[in-house]
Amino acid sequence: MAETYGRMDEEELRDRIRNRKEALGKRLVILGHHYQRQEVIDFADFRGDSLGLSRLAAAQKECEFIVFCGVHFMAESAEILRQEHQTVQHPDFRAGCPLAATADLAAVKQAWEIAQDALDDGSRRVMPVTYMNSEAALKAFCGRNGGAVCTSSNAPAAFRWAFRQAEKLFFFPDEHLGRNSARQIGIPRQEILLWDPESSPQDPEIGKKIRAASLLLWKGFCHVHTHFSVEHVRKARAASPGARIVVHPECLEEVVREADASGSTEFICRYVQEAPAGSTIFVGTEINLVSRLGREHPDKQVFELARSLCPNMFRIDLFKLLRTLEGIGRFNRVSVDPQTKEQARAALERMLEMG
Ligand code: 13P
Ligand code: SF4
Repeated sequence: MAETYGRMDEEELRDRIRNRKEALGKRLVILGHHYQRQEVIDFADFRGDSLGLSRLAAAQKECEFIVFCGVHFMAESAEILRQEHQTVQHPDFRAGCPLAATADLAAVKQAWEIAQDALDDGSRRVMPVTYMNSEAALKAFCGRNGGAVCTSSNAPAAFRWAFRQAEKLFFFPDEHLGRNSARQIGIPRQEILLWDPESSPQDPEIGKKIRAASLLLWKGFCHVHTHFSVEHVRKARAASPGARIVVHPECLEEVVREADASGSTEFICRYVQEAPAGSTIFVGTEINLVSRLGREHPDKQVFELARSLCPNMFRIDLFKLLRTLEGIGRFNRVSVDPQTKEQARAALERMLEMG
């Protein structure tokens, strides 16, 4: 700890952050994702899931400085949605998302072109939808092709929206959120084609498979959530037969099927909040959120389904937050080139309009 925080102890860091916040007053808004460490959340003006935080970022009309404590794609989305006079800063550019990194523009374009060739009559037949956990270039790709962004709280709604205007949906980059959303809206398994960027482009049967599929799913995953297994669910039920189990939809489909409920981080917070006093709840998501829910609900027993930490979310600490506040408006400013920004904004706004 001493090494990470340099020569300052935690109290000094807290004092200096408090002073910076006081000095900046309403000019500053700090947004914190639910997976952030408690000490960072203590200084957040707002906390939320990816959808809630992008709504909040878009709603901040007055402040000048937005400091985003989360992973990079989240800060990038805030940058895309911000007002002209604002800056968005991210305390650590190395805090990326390995799931987002499974898809890049070149590989997605290759899949898109193969699909267009297989259908050979224009892009209206396939609607691209990207998960929020993706780089700005992919959001822009969706924006310019009539598609949208979605998060874990509105993926089934976004899927329905896509199928209202196209015959097929191409969703990237999270296979598991894709499978769980497809199940929710009743897409049969045999109509799902898993797109593996390593092997699908070479598959001689790919055209036929694309024509037979209604959903093309990118083969990407979140290691934090695929850590949870059916075995974990069964063990929890055996240990505590009356317990409820809630998981995030980035978990494997079979885990979601065995759980009592699934939803975004905000949904999980509400689920625990609304459970009757005395309940026992096992939660399958990132450990910092699970531990906080336990502390905030002492009248309930909240346990992790298994311990799983997002090392990228964890990169942001008090030292980095202070460094960002001391370089307000300058240090680690997030930037997106104007054309990408405009097209990505269209896809994000389509999502925000969807509700
Ligand atoms: P939420 O949108 O549910 O907050 O999820 C973000 C995320 O990165 C989950 O791993
Ligand atoms: Fe990315 Fe998974 Fe971490 Fe969420 S929990 S930020 S999806 S690696």
